[in-house]
Amino acid sequence: MPIIDAFGPTAARDTAPGVSSTLSPAARAYGVLPMPKLEWNPEVERATAHLYERIKHVVPSVEWPFFAPYVKAINELKERRGAVILAHNYQTPEIYNCVADFVGDSLQLAREAAKTKAKLIVQCGVHFMAETAKVLNPDKVVLIPDSRAGCSLASSITGDDVCLLRERFPGVPVVTYVNTSAEVKAESDICCTSSNAVQVVESLGVDKVIFLPDEYLAKYVASQTKVKIIAWKGHCEVHERFTGDELRKYRAEDPNIQIIAHPECPPDVLAEADFTGSTAHMIGWVRDHKPCKVVMVTECSMASNVKVDFPEVEFVQPCNLCPHMKRITLPKILDSLVYMQEEVVVDPMVAEKARRAVERMIHLKS
Ligand code: 13P
Ligand code: SF4
Repeated sequence: MPIIDAFGPTAARDTAPGVSSTLSPAARAYGVLPMPKLEWNPEVERATAHLYERIKHVVPSVEWPFFAPYVKAINELKERRGAVILAHNYQTPEIYNCVADFVGDSLQLAREAAKTKAKLIVQCGVHFMAETAKVLNPDKVVLIPDSRAGCSLASSITGDDVCLLRERFPGVPVVTYVNTSAEVKAESDICCTSSNAVQVVESLGVDKVIFLPDEYLAKYVASQTKVKIIAWKGHCEVHERFTGDELRKYRAEDPNIQIIAHPECPPDVLAEADFTGSTAHMIGWVRDHKPCKVVMVTECSMASNVKVDFPEVEFVQPCNLCPHMKRITLPKILDSLVYMQEEVVVDPMVAEKARRAVERMIHLKS
C-alpha cells in the first residue's frame, strides 16, 4: 500500500498548536504570530555575524547555518513581544550568548525576574526557575519553552513532606533551596540558593534549621557553619555522578590543574576541590584567578559559556549534561514566542506564600 499522507517538521511548525479553543490564555490575549521563515541566506549570515564571532571557539562553523536563522527570528520576535529572555548558566552557548538578555545563577535570575520591567518573561532554564519568576511576578506572563524541564531535586520532595518535617521538629525553621516547587517554597520560612545558603542559614539567628532538599548542599553548609542542620536526602542527578577518584586522576595527570566544584557534588568531590561555589561564584573564581587549566565540576555547558570570555584558559569539561536544561532549544524558544507557550501557572494562594519565602531571601543584605 502506498503512504497516503506524510507530516514533517515544516508542516507542523506552520500551524499553531491546536485550534483556538485549546490555546493558552496568554496565546488568546497576545495572539499567535506567523512562524518566520527559517532559511540560511546571505542576509541571515550578515545579520548574525557579530554573534557568531563571539561563540566561534565553542560552536563549530558547520552548526551555525542551523542556529543563525533561529537566533535572528528569536531576537526579532523578542522585540515585537516586548519579552525578556532569562537564561541559566547551563544553557547551551547559542542560547546563552546569542538570544539571552540576562544570564546567571539561580539567585541572579531570581533577582532579575524581580526587577524586570518587561511584561513577558521567557525563562530558559528548568521549571522551578520559571515558577520562581512567576511567583515574583504574578501579573506578568512567564513562559518556559518546555515545561517538562524538571529537576531531580525539585521532584524529591512535596509540600506534605515539609509539613511532616515541621510536625517532627516543631519550631525549627525551614530553609529551602530554590530547586523546589512553589508548593514546597510555600511551606518554607525562607529560600536560599547555592550562592547564599550559608548566609541564609546564619541570618535566622537560631542554632538548628531544617535544610531542604539537597543532602550534599546541606552537608556543605554544615561544614561552613556552627548551626545544626537537619537534611533531606534529595540529590542532583548531574552532580551526584562526579567522584573524588575521577578528580584525583586529573590531578595525577597534571599536578598544577585547578579544580572548582558546585556544592551539589558529594563531599568526597568537594574535598578534592580548590574552590566550591555556585555557578556564578565559579565564573567569578575563573575571572579572578585566570588559571592555566581548570576542571569545572558541574554541568558541561557552563565551561563552554565561560570559555567565550576567557579563551586563554584551558577548560576540562567532564561531560555531565543536565537532561532537563537540555530540553530548552532554539526551536522551542521560537515556538514559545510565536505561540505564547508554555505558560507557567501557579495557584495564587500558593504563590503568595512562596513569594514570602523567596522575597525574604532576595531582600537579605549581601
Ligand atoms: P546555581 O544557582 O549555582 O546556578 O545552581 C542551580 C542548579 O540547578 C545547579 O545544578
Ligand atoms: Fe536540577 Fe541538577 Fe539539573 Fe541543576 S543540574 S537543574 S540541580 S538536575
